[in-house]
Amino acid sequence: MADDTTAQPSKKLYIETVGCQMNVLDSELVVARLRDDGYELTDDIDQADAILYNTCSVRQHAEDKIYSALGRIKNLKREKPGLSIGVLGCMAQKDQGSILKRAPHVDVVIGPGQLGRVPELLSKARAEEKPQLAVSLARNAGSRDRVTSSFDSYDADREPAVRPSPHQAYLRVMMGCDKFCTYCIVPSVRGPEQSRPPDAIVAEARLLALQGVKEITLVGQTVNSYKHKTPDGRVARLSDLLARLHDIDGLVRIKFITSFPNDMTDDLLQAVRDLPKVSRYIHVPAQSGCDDVLKRMKRMYTVAFYEEMLARLRETIPGSSVSSDFIVGFCGETDESFEKTARLLERSRFKNSFIFKYSARTGTKADSLFPDDVPDEVKRRRNHILLDLQTAISLEDNRAFIGREVEVLVEGPSRSTTRKEGWDGPDQLVGRTTCDRIAVFPGPESLAGEMARVRIEQASAVTLFGGLAGGANGRTA
Ligand code: 5AD
Ligand code: SF4
Repeated sequence: MADDTTAQPSKKLYIETVGCQMNVLDSELVVARLRDDGYELTDDIDQADAILYNTCSVRQHAEDKIYSALGRIKNLKREKPGLSIGVLGCMAQKDQGSILKRAPHVDVVIGPGQLGRVPELLSKARAEEKPQLAVSLARNAGSRDRVTSSFDSYDADREPAVRPSPHQAYLRVMMGCDKFCTYCIVPSVRGPEQSRPPDAIVAEARLLALQGVKEITLVGQTVNSYKHKTPDGRVARLSDLLARLHDIDGLVRIKFITSFPNDMTDDLLQAVRDLPKVSRYIHVPAQSGCDDVLKRMKRMYTVAFYEEMLARLRETIPGSSVSSDFIVGFCGETDESFEKTARLLERSRFKNSFIFKYSARTGTKADSLFPDDVPDEVKRRRNHILLDLQTAISLEDNRAFIGREVEVLVEGPSRSTTRKEGWDGPDQLVGRTTCDRIAVFPGPESLAGEMARVRIEQASAVTLFGGLAGGANGRTA
């Protein structure tokens, strides 16, 4: 039975987000809209009036997890017929109506280009007692302009409560992707590449700074391809945007993720070098160290090009760190091609690498062109080999920090220590250096959002450990 939503003083919203930073940001915007509609957040799924999953389609595993979560809440819906269940984001765009066939208890299926309509569609599903589906056009469903306009950009209603921390926020600078790497579903589910106008981005960053945000992370699938043409013909690139954001009072750190190797222009590298608030950290995935594989992936660069880019980056920005993504077991990856990837990883000395087993995605070029011919156990083995190599490099490079002082932006209490039950040591804080290394050290929670100097005493592959250095509280001006 449809319930009268307007009569309820407050409805409880449970939202789970998987996938990339873009999804974290999308969830923030959805929650903001739903708050205006009378919802408040809950961590307790049993208390919820609406359960939303903001989903990811990049790998099969991420989708499987959502389908099993949907299976688990089937009973909840039976016990509580007024409960609304929604599948949002990339999986909604990819699987569309078939989600309703597999999970008929779902009320709304809403793609990433339609998220501004979540409140309206939830109400409509309740009023009409009928599931609602809202997705954007497929990439081949019409002219570029028509497809693009079916992916709405919805701006700047921000919701601090679901940010990674009160001092950190994501900011979208572009949407979609036009690279069409053959393994990747993103260009289909997130639509054509669109760069937001710089004025809108700067205005949003100012608002975030006024709300107390110290660190913004600019997000885009290929963020360094950012390019916005104003009607008078002027072109703003990511370097121009960084310079404008740098002038905003209150912001102390600016990051951007994820970069595409071919678009790593000198103006961008110089901006990172010259603007002290910009984090000296660049995430620029290599994906493979074998030219044949890169070609089948349609990455549009060679290993030599990638390494030259890396050398130029490091020469331009002293003290920088770089991280990468790799896919192992892509179609036709032989032992020899994998070896080449392992050697590239070793030579590159990334701060860290995210390593994924290739997962065939329906609707991608690779899925229709090449057999998924590397057995899962081989993918798993290659995954472990790369992880072990990377861990050894990360450990060695982190150990070089022992005995040094670093400046960190304090994010807040460290989850791994302070919040662990039974922990009775001093409060542990976590912060990050400008090159994105994580430092954990004892200190008062009041330092959250401040810069502090930390003397490093120990290091693991992912974390530097130490104590506040010098002056009162280690706080730096
Ligand atoms: N299988 C495995 N990993 C993938 N990625 C993207 N598509 C796939 C896929 N089909 C990885 C890439 C990308 C990261 C976000 O996810 O490494 O950089
Ligand atoms: Fe996917 Fe390639 Fe676009 Fe990254 S650049 S989102 S891997 S298509």
